[in-house]
Amino acid sequence: AEPTRSVAIREALEQEVDDGKKKVTIFFGTQTGTAEGFAKSLAEEAKARYDKARFKVVDLDEYAIDDDEYEEKLKKETLVLFFLATYGDGEPTDNAARFYKWFTEGKERGVWLDCLTYAVFGLGNRQYEHFNKVAKVVDDILAEQGGKRLIQVGLGDDDQCIEDDFTGWKEQLWPELDKLLWDEEDLATGGTYTVAVPEYRVVFIDPADASPKERTWNLANGSSVYDISHPCRVNVAVRRELHTPASDRSCIHLEFDITGTGLSYETGDHVGVFAENCLENVEEAEKLLGYSPDTLFSIHADKEDGTPLNGGALPPPFPSPCTLRTALTRYADLLSSPKKAALSALAAYASEPSEAERLKFLASPAGKDEYSQWIVTCQRSLLEVLKEFPSAKPPLGVFFAAISPRLQHRFYSISSSPRMFPSRIHVTCALVYGPTPSGRIHKGVCSTWMKNAIPMEESEDCSWGPIFVRQSNFKLPADTSVPIVMIGPGTGLAPFRGFLQERLALKQSGAILGRAILFFGCRNRKMDFIYEDELKNFVQAGVISELILAFSREGVAKEYVQHKMSKKASDIWDIISKGGYIYVCGDAKGMAKDVHRTLHTIVQEQGCLDNSKTESLVKNLQMQGRYLRDVW
Ligand code: 2AM
Repeated sequence: AEPTRSVAIREALEQEVDDGKKKVTIFFGTQTGTAEGFAKSLAEEAKARYDKARFKVVDLDEYAIDDDEYEEKLKKETLVLFFLATYGDGEPTDNAARFYKWFTEGKERGVWLDCLTYAVFGLGNRQYEHFNKVAKVVDDILAEQGGKRLIQVGLGDDDQCIEDDFTGWKEQLWPELDKLLWDEEDLATGGTYTVAVPEYRVVFIDPADASPKERTWNLANGSSVYDISHPCRVNVAVRRELHTPASDRSCIHLEFDITGTGLSYETGDHVGVFAENCLENVEEAEKLLGYSPDTLFSIHADKEDGTPLNGGALPPPFPSPCTLRTALTRYADLLSSPKKAALSALAAYASEPSEAERLKFLASPAGKDEYSQWIVTCQRSLLEVLKEFPSAKPPLGVFFAAISPRLQHRFYSISSSPRMFPSRIHVTCALVYGPTPSGRIHKGVCSTWMKNAIPMEESEDCSWGPIFVRQSNFKLPADTSVPIVMIGPGTGLAPFRGFLQERLALKQSGAILGRAILFFGCRNRKMDFIYEDELKNFVQAGVISELILAFSREGVAKEYVQHKMSKKASDIWDIISKGGYIYVCGDAKGMAKDVHRTLHTIVQEQGCLDNSKTESLVKNLQMQGRYLRDVW
């Protein structure tokens, strides 16, 4: 930033002061909470660094009620920061979707943001095709429409250490913000400030004293609308293994009973599930923290007088009072690798100096390689780290605020159709289980919970979970006679099972069904051919026109769905030419990429098109919603 520009921005910032402080708005588009966490921690650090500025962290969805308000309010901003995660197939997060749609569709607005200075940090994963697409697009449009880019867009990569990317981006950001938000004296001294470790206020309750009722997710279902913050409590009705005993892996069919809850869904939607940690891990955490499982406490994000702790940057605490057993079971992420900030918080409570030193080192810039090796590459869990540093016994308020992140919900593609199962939500879930480089056996939290769930059909004291439904655009064509191609190997079959149920119900009520080809792949017919009988019945009933199977580990050579697609090139081209739909579901990093390439080749060869015509045809299919992907 050249000096004259800084002066101009500084003046603009000063104009709209109301309490003598300059205003900075920090937006976030978050799915699992990382972007929100970064936004809030940046705000905290910035508040300490710039006492003459006012920082506001804003959920993009809550910023404006409609497009006009987005425009009106953005026009008045002078300095904004964006934290934007890219999700799934290059999409914005749910809470950024409305803003993103409006902002990207408004190319005709011209140059209107000339009073705005901005910086964007993206959260993505390099393994995916559309790495940080949302952040890049927003960054570009902001510049096109007159905004002044303070620093280059940050491209956080969750495949490596996204926290390091964030730190690196911040290091570039501070000097630029200093120029705008520090006065002469600060600039001369370099500013002096400290940032405190975030902490909740914990109040211990003597269970003998009164009898405060434990408050957890276990609340009666009272909401009229269920969402991520108001999930619906539902029982597990059915749990069934889908692999045969010959398989060394596991895939679970689970049914949630939504009878009488008011919760509803559509074919192709996703279900968000809040799972529990398994008892073994919870007991270990209790021991390492040094508290009894029955410890009863309430947890608060504000001081006794009601003023917010940590400048309001802490996420709302979980429902309490509850026991430590409940808190660790339902709300603590014990198996993810701890962030550097968590290690430095832990260091502050290590009574053994050598342990404190090592933790500090791991969290420091000098310990970057060691952190990357010992924590990230080894996939070392928080639990393993706690075990490695037994003298570090953080108080619960620090543990839940700064060390253990909140246990996140997991999304699954719903594998049923409400036309056939209006009171059940079916999930098809592959068990995550395997050794990590550090030598532990990693058991995925949610899939393990599903595998061990006790269904209603086995016990009245069955498992339950808080869930909510997320709408998707992965839907069958409105006209049932339109032909479709479905590609879903492994658990990628899930939404198609819903599609097929829907088609069967439609057919039974007299609808004419178009042609439907299903490509399914698995390792071995005798081990992991999930829902085999059902698929055969769908074929018999005329709901699937052709079931095409690829078994990758039966013969010498790998047979994948895309190999089978190549053999069916003319049929696929025929369906595309007739206005048909192509659906892909499953693994994004390998399968969906390869299938995309194959589809490209099919279009190019069958349509006798050159490369750029092929590309625009495939793009068009995507734009028209005729090439849909549900990938993860
Ligand atoms: P593999 O494990 O033998 O490699 C469901 O997981 C099926 O998808 C398995 O048969 C698996 O084969 C296969 N698969 C793995 N990678 C794939 C890819 N890049 N494209 C298509 N199928 C793939």
